[in-house]
Amino acid sequence: MQQRPFGETKLTVTPIGLGLAALGRPGYITLGHGDSLAHDYEVASMERRAHTVLDAAWAAGIRYFDAARSYGRAEAFLGSWLQSREIDPAAVTVGSKWGYTYTAGWRVQAEKHEVKEHSLAVLRRQWAESRALLGDYLDLYQIHSATFESGVLENGEVLAELARLKQAGVAVGLSLSGPGQADVLRAAMAVTVDGVRLFDGVQATWNLLEPSAGPALADAAAAGMGVIVKEALANGRLTPANEDPAFAPRLAILQAHAGRLHTTVDALALAAVLARPWVSVVLSGVTSPAHLASNLGALAVTLDEEAIHDLAALAETPDHYWQTRAELAWN
Ligand SMILES: NC(=O)c1ccc[n+]([C@@H]2O[C@H](COP(=O)([O-])OP(=O)(O)OC[C@H]3O[C@@H](n4cnc5c(N)ncnc54)[C@H](OP(=O)(O)O)[C@@H]3O)[C@@H](O)[C@H]2O)c1
Repeated sequence: MQQRPFGETKLTVTPIGLGLAALGRPGYITLGHGDSLAHDYEVASMERRAHTVLDAAWAAGIRYFDAARSYGRAEAFLGSWLQSREIDPAAVTVGSKWGYTYTAGWRVQAEKHEVKEHSLAVLRRQWAESRALLGDYLDLYQIHSATFESGVLENGEVLAELARLKQAGVAVGLSLSGPGQADVLRAAMAVTVDGVRLFDGVQATWNLLEPSAGPALADAAAAGMGVIVKEALANGRLTPANEDPAFAPRLAILQAHAGRLHTTVDALALAAVLARPWVSVVLSGVTSPAHLASNLGALAVTLDEEAIHDLAALAETPDHYWQTRAELAWN
């Protein structure tokens, strides 16, 4: 798989990366998560599964891996894999995130799965934890779901600490969520420390159902930021695993174009992301090598005019999209 620069940083990424949100913990919101894990939540089983998917990703040429402090043991599983496979830190790009603390206690159902706090104390604690698990592999540290409400873009202490990390050689980014993604991104692009833009990269949701952040992401890329797209399959809604009858007409459109273009629905949805000129890397969020292989089919798909036209009509209003996402069950 070709490597390409991550914005203006020294880092490189592959067009498809692997996210570990679903591999690191028993409970998550992706469709059919529990079934995908065969409800086997033993730590050793989950680590084996994560390593199997990481091996398949590595063999396919994937060189960007994405974790977070709040993804259960994702950083630990990624760290143990990088070390056991003796991967050269220079051959791989690893991103993680701080700002949410994992509180589910390795349970599928929990009163609170994660607690958000974008304070200096949390940044310092979680940076030390991430470094302990990922060591020198850790290249990119992102604020997890920056919002205006969290106040993080106006927290001088936090911004100064991030600037110190950047000075020490770690790229600094932020991830976004919710209908306000574009507005938060534009505010983040304006954050400077000593006259230099602080954020090297952004991770945002862009998919066929929720493309509203596109213009802001294009501006971020043009300004030199690396762009990571997450939730490209809308947490599984853009796959055959989506059995919601209300979605059936749209799934039928996806299936018709996938059939015509000799690909799968998930690969078609990922190809739509890769067709954006501003994307550095799109994350695959799979839990099996078979689904990864299907996702990777995106690299061979070129959307034609007919597909571009029909797929553009699948978009929901941002409010509707994020409301639906909020209603996805932890499983
Ligand atoms: N705020 C943030 O910063 C944030 C938020 C969300 C996500 N992320 C990042 O983005 C990554 C991806 O997001 P996401 O987890 O929501 O993933 P996603 O890629 O939108 O969706 C993954 C879902 O699609 C299913 N799937 C994929 N290929 C399939 C196929 N061929 N057939 C049937 N089902 C298929 C997966 O099933 P299986 O599990 O069975 O493979 C899983 O349920 C995460 O791992 C994380 O790194 C970041």
